[in-house]
Amino acid sequence: MGTEGELYYWDYLGLDALLASQQPISGGEGEPAHDEMLFIIVHQCFELWFKQILVELDDAVGTMHADTVPEKEMGRVVDRLDRIIAIQRLLTGQLEVLETMTPLDFLDFREQLAPASGFQSVQFRLVENRLGLDPEQRLTIAGASYTDVMSDEHRRMIEETERAPNLRDAIDRWLARTPFLRFGDFDFWAAYREAVDAMLERERAKVSEHPNLDDASRDEQLQAVEESAAQFETLFDAEQYERLRERGHRQLSQDAFCAALLISLYRDEPLFQLPFRLLTAVTDIDEGFAAWRYRHALLAHRMIGGKVGTGGTAGHTYLEAAARKHRVFRDLFDLPTFFVPRSALPELPAEVREQLSFRYESAPA
Ligand code: HEM
Repeated sequence: MGTEGELYYWDYLGLDALLASQQPISGGEGEPAHDEMLFIIVHQCFELWFKQILVELDDAVGTMHADTVPEKEMGRVVDRLDRIIAIQRLLTGQLEVLETMTPLDFLDFREQLAPASGFQSVQFRLVENRLGLDPEQRLTIAGASYTDVMSDEHRRMIEETERAPNLRDAIDRWLARTPFLRFGDFDFWAAYREAVDAMLERERAKVSEHPNLDDASRDEQLQAVEESAAQFETLFDAEQYERLRERGHRQLSQDAFCAALLISLYRDEPLFQLPFRLLTAVTDIDEGFAAWRYRHALLAHRMIGGKVGTGGTAGHTYLEAAARKHRVFRDLFDLPTFFVPRSALPELPAEVREQLSFRYESAPA
């Protein structure tokens, strides 16, 4: 306590509680294993940053989940998401500090940790659910739910967030409301389809007329063009799109996916710039978590080799599988499949361009 009545740094930051919260369990009555303190502190830093990520996510979801999202609030949402991206970079880097512990040093206290594990990180599960990780998509361990390892209170808390608004659903709804997909006489999809057909025709001709291809390679390449044409068809055909969704190959609704495509293709238009930044931010966040998961799987591999985890999973092979499967915005990574070069894009009619400009730009001089 500093001078009576004045705010004191130590108290403000709750350092009594914070700095008394590192309690090694190794060593019994004797000296604890030297590296256990590092192990605890690194995990605690992660949990603090998870807490901050949840604060940012709650705010972003709160805004994006509304029936209308005022343009001026979008910039704030992007700021929140950018902050999460900055934190993620830090998190991945922090694993390096833990890697100064050798596997043998870890073994000095590892056996005492079971059955506790990062698998029980409640906040990590809250982050996943707040982002919109589909419960159906989760890997199961021996048929058990990921919440089975939690206390009753934590299980309830996590399961509630499976049903609460999440970022992916909020972005889906917001994208699906995007205007400009049809504007007066201008039907974007008809124009885009024409551009795609022309591009595929050019590709077929290029392969057919290529002087250096033998018949087998030509057939193979023509087959690839037809596969690409079939992919485009899933975009245009509502039933095919829905079938992909049922099989888990698409997560966004068809309207939302198409709006994301429109925004990405015409991102240079002033009114699409902020929506494009938002899509880029959630793509970065998905990539950031995937990168963290792969990085953590490598850390687990070098620390425990092929041993099972203290939480009872197969260890690093489980973590690698989760890194591949537990993705939230995979659709945005698939979008470029449907890109056509700028030079081949349908030109937007003047009245659409005007609507997509900032007013002071389009006002007559
Ligand atoms: C020596 C260092 C570490 C090792 C050997 C390790 C190992 C593992 C293993 C094997 C799992 C799978 C679950 C299990 O069977 O236990 C796991 C899960 C997990 N660990 Fe670690 N870990 C380490 C450090 C960390 C750190 C620093 C964090 C930061 C919070 C962390 C967070 C997590 C999370 C969130 C999961 C659940 C991942 C998922 O289910 O997708 N781990 N860890």
